[in-house]
Amino acid sequence: STQKLWGGRFTGETDPLMHLYNASLPYDYKMYKADLDGTKVYTSGLQKIGLLTEEELAKIHVGLDQIKKEWDEDKFVRHPNDEDIHTANERRLGEIIGRDIAGKVHTGRSRNDQCVTDLRIYCRDVLNEKLFPALTSLIQVLIKRGEEEIDILMPGYTHLQRAQPIRWSHWLSSYATYFTEDLNRLKQILVRFNKSPLGAGALAGHPYGIDREFLAEGLEFNGVIGNSLVAVSDRDFVVELMFWSTLFMNHISRFAEDLIIYSTAEFGFIKLNDAYSTGSSLMPQKKNADSLELLRGKSGRVFGDLSGFLMSLKGIPSTYDKDMQEDKEALFDCLTTVEHSILIATGVISTLAVQEEKMKNALTMDMLATDLADYLVRKGVPFRETHHISGECVALAENLGLSGIDKLSLEQYQKIDARFAEDLYETFNFEQSVERRDATGGTAKSAVFKQLKNLQSQL
Ligand code: ARG
Repeated sequence: STQKLWGGRFTGETDPLMHLYNASLPYDYKMYKADLDGTKVYTSGLQKIGLLTEEELAKIHVGLDQIKKEWDEDKFVRHPNDEDIHTANERRLGEIIGRDIAGKVHTGRSRNDQCVTDLRIYCRDVLNEKLFPALTSLIQVLIKRGEEEIDILMPGYTHLQRAQPIRWSHWLSSYATYFTEDLNRLKQILVRFNKSPLGAGALAGHPYGIDREFLAEGLEFNGVIGNSLVAVSDRDFVVELMFWSTLFMNHISRFAEDLIIYSTAEFGFIKLNDAYSTGSSLMPQKKNADSLELLRGKSGRVFGDLSGFLMSLKGIPSTYDKDMQEDKEALFDCLTTVEHSILIATGVISTLAVQEEKMKNALTMDMLATDLADYLVRKGVPFRETHHISGECVALAENLGLSGIDKLSLEQYQKIDARFAEDLYETFNFEQSVERRDATGGTAKSAVFKQLKNLQSQL
Protein backbone atom coordinates (compact mmCIF):
# COMPACT_ATOMS: atom_id res chain seq x y z
CA SER A 1 0.00 0.00 0.00
CA THR A 2 0.97 3.57 -0.56
CA GLN A 3 2.79 5.81 1.94
CA LYS A 4 1.21 8.91 0.55
CA LEU A 5 -0.24 11.45 2.94
CA TRP A 6 -3.65 10.97 1.36
CA GLY A 7 -3.18 7.22 0.88
CA GLY A 8 -5.93 5.88 3.18
CA ARG A 9 -8.55 5.18 0.54
CA PHE A 10 -6.03 3.90 -1.98
CA THR A 11 -4.99 0.33 -2.58
CA GLY A 12 -3.12 0.71 -5.86
CA GLU A 13 0.26 2.40 -6.32
CA THR A 14 0.74 5.66 -8.19
CA ASP A 15 2.37 5.26 -11.56
CA PRO A 16 5.97 6.52 -11.11
CA LEU A 17 5.65 8.90 -14.03
CA MET A 18 2.36 10.17 -12.60
CA HIS A 19 4.14 10.87 -9.33
CA LEU A 20 6.70 13.02 -11.12
CA TYR A 21 4.05 14.68 -13.26
CA ASN A 22 2.05 15.53 -10.16
CA ALA A 23 4.90 16.60 -7.87
CA SER A 24 5.52 20.31 -7.35
CA LEU A 25 8.30 20.04 -4.77
CA PRO A 26 11.04 20.66 -7.40
CA TYR A 27 9.84 24.27 -7.59
CA ASP A 28 7.52 24.95 -4.65
CA TYR A 29 10.27 24.14 -2.14
CA LYS A 30 11.09 27.84 -2.59
CA MET A 31 8.09 28.61 -0.39
CA TYR A 32 9.40 26.58 2.55
CA LYS A 33 9.68 29.55 4.87
CA ALA A 34 6.17 30.76 4.11
CA ASP A 35 4.87 27.22 4.59
CA LEU A 36 6.52 26.84 8.00
CA ASP A 37 5.41 30.30 9.15
CA GLY A 38 1.91 29.46 8.00
CA THR A 39 1.86 26.26 10.00
CA LYS A 40 3.21 28.04 13.07
CA VAL A 41 0.41 30.57 13.06
CA TYR A 42 -2.19 27.99 12.06
CA THR A 43 -1.28 25.73 14.98
CA SER A 44 -1.42 28.72 17.33
CA GLY A 45 -4.93 29.21 16.01
CA LEU A 46 -5.73 25.55 16.74
CA GLN A 47 -4.41 25.92 20.27
CA LYS A 48 -6.56 28.99 20.74
CA ILE A 49 -9.71 26.96 20.07
CA GLY A 50 -8.59 24.05 22.24
CA LEU A 51 -7.49 21.62 19.55
CA LEU A 52 -3.87 21.59 20.71
CA THR A 53 -2.44 21.89 24.24
CA GLU A 54 0.19 24.51 24.98
CA GLU A 55 2.69 21.73 25.37
CA GLU A 56 1.88 20.23 21.98
CA LEU A 57 2.04 23.65 20.37
CA ALA A 58 5.48 24.30 21.87
CA LYS A 59 6.80 20.99 20.52
CA ILE A 60 5.36 21.71 17.08
CA HIS A 61 7.02 25.11 16.96
CA VAL A 62 10.39 23.69 17.98
CA GLY A 63 10.06 21.06 15.23
CA LEU A 64 9.11 23.70 12.66
CA ASP A 65 12.15 25.78 13.63
CA GLN A 66 14.38 22.78 13.12
CA ILE A 67 12.91 22.14 9.68
CA LYS A 68 13.51 25.76 8.76
CA LYS A 69 17.14 25.42 9.83
CA GLU A 70 17.49 22.33 7.64
CA TRP A 71 16.14 24.16 4.59
CA ASP A 72 18.23 27.28 5.33
CA GLU A 73 21.38 25.19 5.50
CA ASP A 74 20.41 23.13 2.47
CA LYS A 75 20.31 19.98 4.63
CA PHE A 76 16.65 19.08 4.22
CA VAL A 77 16.50 15.51 2.90
CA ARG A 78 13.69 14.99 0.42
CA HIS A 79 11.78 11.72 0.50
CA PRO A 80 10.84 10.06 -2.80
CA ASN A 81 7.20 10.17 -1.74
CA ASP A 82 7.18 13.90 -0.98
CA GLU A 83 4.71 15.52 -3.32
CA ASP A 84 5.03 19.18 -2.56
CA ILE A 85 6.49 21.51 0.06
CA HIS A 86 3.43 21.05 2.27
CA THR A 87 3.58 17.26 2.45
CA ALA A 88 7.39 17.31 2.72
CA ASN A 89 7.35 19.63 5.72
CA GLU A 90 4.55 17.71 7.45
CA ARG A 91 6.29 14.38 6.85
CA ARG A 92 9.50 15.79 8.32
CA LEU A 93 7.68 17.25 11.33
CA GLY A 94 6.35 13.78 12.12
CA GLU A 95 9.86 12.38 12.03
CA ILE A 96 11.12 15.03 14.43
CA ILE A 97 8.34 15.34 17.03
CA GLY A 98 6.44 12.10 16.41
CA ARG A 99 3.34 11.44 14.37
CA ASP A 100 0.98 11.65 17.36
CA ILE A 101 1.40 15.36 17.66
CA ALA A 102 2.39 16.17 14.08
CA GLY A 103 -0.75 14.41 12.94
CA LYS A 104 -2.88 17.13 14.56
CA VAL A 105 -1.31 20.00 12.68
CA HIS A 106 -3.50 19.71 9.59
CA THR A 107 -6.80 19.59 11.52
CA GLY A 108 -9.34 21.68 9.61
CA ARG A 109 -6.74 22.79 7.09
CA SER A 110 -6.44 21.71 3.49
CA ARG A 111 -3.56 22.07 1.10
CA ASN A 112 -6.03 24.16 -0.85
CA ASP A 113 -5.99 27.03 1.63
CA GLN A 114 -2.42 26.22 2.66
CA CYS A 115 -0.73 26.39 -0.76
CA VAL A 116 -2.27 29.70 -1.72
CA THR A 117 -1.53 31.17 1.70
CA ASP A 118 2.10 30.23 1.14
CA LEU A 119 2.11 31.67 -2.35
CA ARG A 120 0.73 35.02 -1.20
CA ILE A 121 3.33 35.23 1.56
CA TYR A 122 6.11 34.18 -0.80
CA CYS A 123 5.17 36.83 -3.37
CA ARG A 124 4.96 39.49 -0.68
CA ASP A 125 8.48 38.57 0.44
CA VAL A 126 9.84 38.67 -3.12
CA LEU A 127 8.37 42.14 -3.59
CA ASN A 128 9.59 43.51 -0.28
CA GLU A 129 13.01 41.90 -0.27
CA LYS A 130 13.90 41.89 -3.95
CA LEU A 131 11.78 43.82 -6.41
CA PHE A 132 11.10 47.01 -4.45
CA PRO A 133 14.76 47.58 -3.49
CA ALA A 134 16.05 46.64 -6.97
CA LEU A 135 13.58 48.91 -8.76
CA THR A 136 14.35 51.73 -6.38
CA SER A 137 18.09 51.44 -7.17
CA LEU A 138 17.41 51.40 -10.90
CA ILE A 139 15.37 54.59 -10.64
CA GLN A 140 18.00 56.17 -8.42
CA VAL A 141 20.76 55.47 -10.94
CA LEU A 142 18.69 57.10 -13.68
CA ILE A 143 18.03 60.14 -11.49
CA LYS A 144 21.69 60.48 -10.53
CA ARG A 145 22.90 60.34 -14.14
CA GLY A 146 20.14 62.74 -15.08
CA GLU A 147 21.37 65.29 -12.56
CA GLU A 148 25.05 64.87 -13.39
CA GLU A 149 24.67 65.01 -17.16
CA ILE A 150 22.03 67.72 -17.37
CA ASP A 151 24.05 69.78 -19.91
CA ILE A 152 24.24 67.10 -22.61
CA LEU A 153 21.95 67.64 -25.61
CA MET A 154 20.86 64.98 -28.07
CA PRO A 155 18.36 64.57 -30.89
CA GLY A 156 14.90 63.55 -29.78
CA TYR A 157 13.07 61.28 -32.22
CA THR A 158 9.57 60.52 -33.38
CA HIS A 159 9.13 57.71 -35.91
CA LEU A 160 12.88 57.27 -35.34
CA GLN A 161 13.36 60.45 -37.43
CA ARG A 162 15.18 63.41 -35.96
CA ALA A 163 12.52 65.58 -34.39
CA GLN A 164 13.63 68.17 -31.84
CA PRO A 165 16.65 68.62 -29.61
CA ILE A 166 16.24 67.36 -26.05
CA ARG A 167 18.42 66.86 -23.02
CA TRP A 168 19.95 63.42 -22.52
CA SER A 169 18.69 63.81 -18.94
CA HIS A 170 15.19 64.21 -20.27
CA TRP A 171 15.49 60.78 -21.90
CA LEU A 172 16.83 59.33 -18.61
CA SER A 173 14.00 60.99 -16.74
CA SER A 174 11.44 59.47 -19.13
CA TYR A 175 12.43 55.93 -18.16
CA ALA A 176 12.74 56.87 -14.50
CA THR A 177 9.12 58.02 -14.84
CA TYR A 178 7.97 54.72 -16.37
CA PHE A 179 9.79 52.73 -13.72
CA THR A 180 8.41 54.86 -10.89
CA GLU A 181 4.90 54.22 -12.21
CA ASP A 182 5.79 50.52 -12.30
CA LEU A 183 6.98 50.65 -8.71
CA ASN A 184 3.83 52.43 -7.55
CA ARG A 185 1.63 50.02 -9.47
CA LEU A 186 3.38 47.05 -7.89
CA LYS A 187 2.85 48.51 -4.43
CA GLN A 188 -0.87 48.81 -5.17
CA ILE A 189 -0.99 45.20 -6.31
CA LEU A 190 0.61 44.12 -3.04
CA VAL A 191 -2.07 45.89 -1.02
CA ARG A 192 -4.73 44.06 -3.05
CA PHE A 193 -3.29 40.56 -2.74
CA ASN A 194 -2.03 40.69 0.84
CA LYS A 195 -5.20 39.02 2.16
CA SER A 196 -5.46 35.72 3.99
CA PRO A 197 -7.08 32.58 2.57
CA LEU A 198 -6.04 30.55 5.63
CA GLY A 199 -8.84 28.90 7.55
CA ALA A 200 -11.03 28.43 4.49
CA GLY A 201 -10.43 24.68 4.60
CA ALA A 202 -10.70 22.67 1.40
CA LEU A 203 -13.47 24.94 0.12
CA ALA A 204 -16.45 25.02 2.47
CA GLY A 205 -14.95 26.72 5.51
CA HIS A 206 -13.54 25.76 8.88
CA PRO A 207 -15.53 23.26 10.97
CA TYR A 208 -14.02 24.23 14.35
CA GLY A 209 -14.60 27.94 14.23
CA ILE A 210 -10.99 28.98 13.83
CA ASP A 211 -10.33 32.69 14.25
CA ARG A 212 -9.36 33.65 10.70
CA GLU A 213 -8.67 37.25 11.67
CA PHE A 214 -6.17 36.00 14.23
CA LEU A 215 -4.46 33.87 11.55
CA ALA A 216 -4.40 36.81 9.16
CA GLU A 217 -2.84 39.11 11.73
CA GLY A 218 -0.24 36.54 12.73
CA LEU A 219 0.87 36.25 9.11
CA GLU A 220 0.82 40.03 8.55
CA PHE A 221 -2.00 39.97 6.06
CA ASN A 222 -4.14 43.09 5.97
CA GLY A 223 -7.41 41.17 6.12
CA VAL A 224 -9.10 37.87 5.26
CA ILE A 225 -10.63 36.76 1.98
CA GLY A 226 -14.31 36.86 2.81
CA ASN A 227 -15.55 33.83 0.88
CA SER A 228 -13.96 30.42 1.40
CA LEU A 229 -14.64 29.28 -2.18
CA VAL A 230 -12.79 32.33 -3.46
CA ALA A 231 -10.06 31.95 -0.84
CA VAL A 232 -8.92 28.58 -2.21
CA SER A 233 -9.34 29.29 -5.90
CA ASP A 234 -8.56 32.94 -6.52
CA ARG A 235 -5.40 33.29 -8.60
CA ASP A 236 -6.13 36.80 -9.82
CA PHE A 237 -3.10 38.03 -7.92
CA VAL A 238 -0.89 35.61 -9.84
CA VAL A 239 -2.27 36.97 -13.10
CA GLU A 240 -1.91 40.54 -11.90
CA LEU A 241 1.71 40.00 -10.91
CA MET A 242 2.44 38.45 -14.29
CA PHE A 243 0.60 41.23 -16.07
CA TRP A 244 2.66 43.70 -14.10
CA SER A 245 5.81 41.80 -15.08
CA THR A 246 4.81 41.86 -18.73
CA LEU A 247 4.14 45.58 -18.71
CA PHE A 248 7.35 46.28 -16.83
CA MET A 249 9.35 44.15 -19.26
CA ASN A 250 7.76 46.09 -22.11
CA HIS A 251 9.24 49.25 -20.62
CA ILE A 252 12.58 47.50 -20.14
CA SER A 253 12.47 46.27 -23.73
CA ARG A 254 11.88 49.74 -25.17
CA PHE A 255 14.59 51.16 -22.94
CA ALA A 256 16.95 48.46 -24.23
CA GLU A 257 15.93 49.07 -27.84
CA ASP A 258 16.76 52.79 -27.55
CA LEU A 259 20.18 51.95 -26.16
CA ILE A 260 20.82 49.31 -28.83
CA ILE A 261 20.18 51.94 -31.49
CA TYR A 262 22.27 54.56 -29.68
CA SER A 263 25.18 52.12 -29.33
CA THR A 264 25.52 51.35 -33.05
CA ALA A 265 28.46 52.87 -34.93
CA GLU A 266 25.94 54.78 -37.03
CA PHE A 267 24.64 56.63 -33.96
CA GLY A 268 27.53 56.24 -31.53
CA PHE A 269 25.72 58.10 -28.73
CA ILE A 270 26.73 55.65 -26.02
CA LYS A 271 29.41 53.06 -25.38
CA LEU A 272 28.37 50.01 -23.44
CA ASN A 273 30.73 48.93 -20.68
CA ASP A 274 32.70 45.73 -21.37
CA ALA A 275 30.99 44.18 -18.34
CA TYR A 276 27.71 44.12 -20.27
CA SER A 277 28.94 43.31 -23.78
CA THR A 278 30.23 40.20 -25.45
CA GLY A 279 32.37 39.46 -28.47
CA SER A 280 31.98 37.35 -31.57
CA SER A 281 33.58 33.94 -31.98
CA LEU A 282 34.37 34.78 -35.58
CA MET A 283 34.67 38.55 -36.03
CA PRO A 284 37.42 39.91 -33.81
CA GLN A 285 36.26 43.52 -34.01
CA LYS A 286 32.75 42.87 -32.69
CA LYS A 287 31.39 44.17 -29.42
CA ASN A 288 27.78 43.16 -29.13
CA ALA A 289 25.13 44.62 -26.85
CA ASP A 290 23.99 41.22 -25.59
CA SER A 291 22.80 42.55 -22.26
CA LEU A 292 20.39 44.89 -24.02
CA GLU A 293 19.26 42.27 -26.50
CA LEU A 294 18.48 39.90 -23.64
CA LEU A 295 16.54 42.60 -21.82
CA ARG A 296 14.51 43.05 -25.01
CA GLY A 297 14.19 39.31 -25.66
CA LYS A 298 13.16 38.28 -22.18
CA SER A 299 10.10 40.52 -22.39
CA GLY A 300 8.67 37.91 -24.77
CA ARG A 301 9.32 35.12 -22.34
CA VAL A 302 7.49 36.89 -19.51
CA PHE A 303 4.50 37.60 -21.74
CA GLY A 304 4.52 33.88 -22.55
CA ASP A 305 4.32 33.03 -18.86
CA LEU A 306 1.28 35.29 -18.49
CA SER A 307 -0.56 34.08 -21.57
CA GLY A 308 0.17 30.43 -20.79
CA PHE A 309 -1.24 30.61 -17.29
CA LEU A 310 -4.27 32.61 -18.40
CA MET A 311 -5.06 29.77 -20.79
CA SER A 312 -4.74 27.25 -17.95
CA LEU A 313 -7.01 29.27 -15.73
CA LYS A 314 -9.84 30.11 -18.06
CA GLY A 315 -11.92 26.93 -18.03
CA ILE A 316 -11.44 25.71 -14.47
CA PRO A 317 -14.63 24.98 -12.57
CA SER A 318 -14.97 26.18 -8.97
CA THR A 319 -12.98 25.79 -6.74
CA TYR A 320 -9.52 24.21 -6.43
CA ASP A 321 -8.42 22.08 -9.35
CA LYS A 322 -4.95 20.77 -9.96
CA ASP A 323 -4.58 22.99 -13.02
CA MET A 324 -3.87 25.72 -10.51
CA GLN A 325 -0.58 24.16 -9.57
CA GLU A 326 0.60 25.57 -12.91
CA ASP A 327 0.57 29.01 -11.29
CA LYS A 328 3.94 28.64 -9.61
CA GLU A 329 6.39 27.77 -12.38
CA ALA A 330 5.06 30.56 -14.58
CA LEU A 331 4.99 33.11 -11.78
CA PHE A 332 8.40 32.18 -10.36
CA ASP A 333 9.91 32.44 -13.82
CA CYS A 334 8.38 35.91 -14.22
CA LEU A 335 9.60 37.14 -10.87
CA THR A 336 13.13 35.81 -11.34
CA THR A 337 13.37 37.13 -14.89
CA VAL A 338 12.14 40.54 -13.77
CA GLU A 339 14.54 40.67 -10.84
CA HIS A 340 17.54 39.75 -12.96
CA SER A 341 16.49 42.16 -15.68
CA ILE A 342 16.30 45.02 -13.21
CA LEU A 343 19.78 44.23 -11.92
CA ILE A 344 21.24 44.03 -15.44
CA ALA A 345 19.50 47.24 -16.54
CA THR A 346 20.89 48.98 -13.46
CA GLY A 347 24.39 47.75 -14.27
CA VAL A 348 24.12 48.82 -17.89
CA ILE A 349 22.88 52.31 -17.19
CA SER A 350 25.28 53.00 -14.34
CA THR A 351 28.37 52.01 -16.38
CA LEU A 352 27.73 53.12 -19.95
CA ALA A 353 29.76 56.01 -21.36
CA VAL A 354 27.92 58.87 -23.04
CA GLN A 355 29.51 60.23 -26.21
CA GLU A 356 28.56 63.86 -25.77
CA GLU A 357 30.19 65.10 -28.99
CA LYS A 358 28.45 62.45 -31.09
CA MET A 359 25.10 63.46 -29.67
CA LYS A 360 25.79 67.13 -30.34
CA ASN A 361 27.00 66.48 -33.87
CA ALA A 362 23.81 64.60 -34.63
CA LEU A 363 21.76 67.75 -34.03
CA THR A 364 20.83 69.35 -37.34
CA MET A 365 19.36 72.75 -38.14
CA ASP A 366 16.20 71.32 -39.64
CA MET A 367 15.36 70.16 -36.11
CA LEU A 368 14.78 73.85 -35.38
CA ALA A 369 12.13 74.26 -38.08
CA THR A 370 9.45 74.23 -35.39
CA ASP A 371 11.34 76.97 -33.57
CA LEU A 372 11.39 78.98 -36.80
CA ALA A 373 7.61 78.62 -37.02
CA ASP A 374 7.41 79.69 -33.36
CA TYR A 375 9.47 82.79 -34.24
CA LEU A 376 6.67 84.03 -36.50
CA VAL A 377 4.03 82.99 -33.97
CA ARG A 378 5.66 85.42 -31.59
CA LYS A 379 5.15 88.09 -34.27
CA GLY A 380 1.43 87.34 -34.24
CA VAL A 381 1.15 84.97 -37.21
CA PRO A 382 -1.20 81.99 -36.67
CA PHE A 383 0.72 78.74 -36.14
CA ARG A 384 -0.90 76.89 -39.03
CA GLU A 385 0.42 79.59 -41.34
CA THR A 386 3.88 79.71 -39.77
CA HIS A 387 4.14 75.91 -40.01
CA HIS A 388 3.63 76.22 -43.76
CA ILE A 389 6.10 79.09 -44.13
CA SER A 390 8.78 77.27 -42.16
CA GLY A 391 8.21 74.22 -44.35
CA GLU A 392 8.83 76.34 -47.44
CA CYS A 393 12.10 77.53 -45.95
CA VAL A 394 13.18 73.94 -45.33
CA ALA A 395 12.29 73.02 -48.91
CA LEU A 396 14.15 76.01 -50.36
CA ALA A 397 17.32 75.25 -48.38
CA GLU A 398 17.10 71.66 -49.50
CA ASN A 399 16.59 72.59 -53.18
CA LEU A 400 19.52 74.99 -53.09
CA GLY A 401 21.72 72.26 -51.63
CA LEU A 402 22.40 74.26 -48.47
CA SER A 403 23.49 72.45 -45.30
CA GLY A 404 20.55 73.86 -43.32
CA ILE A 405 17.88 76.54 -42.98
CA ASP A 406 20.34 78.76 -41.13
CA LYS A 407 22.24 79.23 -44.44
CA LEU A 408 19.40 81.00 -46.26
CA SER A 409 19.95 84.76 -46.62
CA LEU A 410 17.63 87.30 -45.06
CA GLU A 411 16.60 88.26 -48.58
CA GLN A 412 15.60 84.70 -49.35
CA TYR A 413 13.67 84.54 -46.10
CA GLN A 414 11.87 87.78 -46.75
CA LYS A 415 10.93 86.65 -50.22
CA ILE A 416 9.04 83.77 -48.59
CA ASP A 417 7.50 86.01 -45.93
CA ALA A 418 8.08 89.72 -45.43
CA ARG A 419 7.64 89.41 -41.64
CA PHE A 420 11.04 87.74 -41.27
CA ALA A 421 13.68 90.10 -39.83
CA GLU A 422 17.39 89.93 -38.97
CA ASP A 423 16.64 88.52 -35.48
CA LEU A 424 15.33 85.27 -37.05
CA TYR A 425 18.91 83.93 -36.99
CA GLU A 426 18.78 83.88 -33.19
CA THR A 427 16.46 80.91 -33.65
CA PHE A 428 19.33 78.68 -34.74
CA ASN A 429 20.53 77.78 -31.30
CA PHE A 430 19.94 74.30 -29.90
CA GLU A 431 20.45 75.28 -26.29
CA GLN A 432 17.92 78.07 -26.61
CA SER A 433 15.42 75.74 -28.28
CA VAL A 434 15.70 73.33 -25.39
CA GLU A 435 15.52 76.05 -22.73
CA ARG A 436 12.31 77.47 -24.22
CA ARG A 437 10.53 74.25 -23.32
CA ASP A 438 10.37 75.02 -19.64
CA ALA A 439 6.72 74.23 -18.98
CA THR A 440 6.16 71.28 -16.62
CA GLY A 441 7.48 68.05 -18.10
CA GLY A 442 9.58 69.76 -20.78
CA THR A 443 13.23 69.49 -21.72
CA ALA A 444 14.51 72.79 -20.29
CA LYS A 445 17.06 72.40 -17.51
CA SER A 446 14.72 73.68 -14.81
CA ALA A 447 11.88 71.42 -16.00
CA VAL A 448 14.06 68.29 -16.09
CA PHE A 449 15.46 69.04 -12.64
CA LYS A 450 11.89 69.36 -11.36
CA GLN A 451 10.98 65.97 -12.86
CA LEU A 452 13.98 64.29 -11.26
CA LYS A 453 13.24 65.88 -7.90
CA ASN A 454 9.64 64.79 -8.08
CA LEU A 455 10.65 61.21 -8.88
CA GLN A 456 13.18 61.17 -6.05
CA SER A 457 10.47 62.28 -3.62
CA GLN A 458 8.38 59.22 -4.54
CA LEU A 459 11.10 56.72 -3.59
N1 ARG B 1 0.89 21.36 -4.73
C1 ARG B 1 -0.45 21.81 -4.81
C2 ARG B 1 -0.50 23.15 -5.53
O1 ARG B 1 0.50 23.79 -5.60
C3 ARG B 1 -1.02 21.91 -3.47
C4 ARG B 1 -2.51 21.75 -3.39
C5 ARG B 1 -2.95 20.38 -3.60
N2 ARG B 1 -4.29 20.24 -3.24
C6 ARG B 1 -4.96 19.14 -3.60
N3 ARG B 1 -6.18 19.07 -3.25
N4 ARG B 1 -4.40 18.20 -4.32
O2 ARG B 1 -1.50 23.57 -6.03
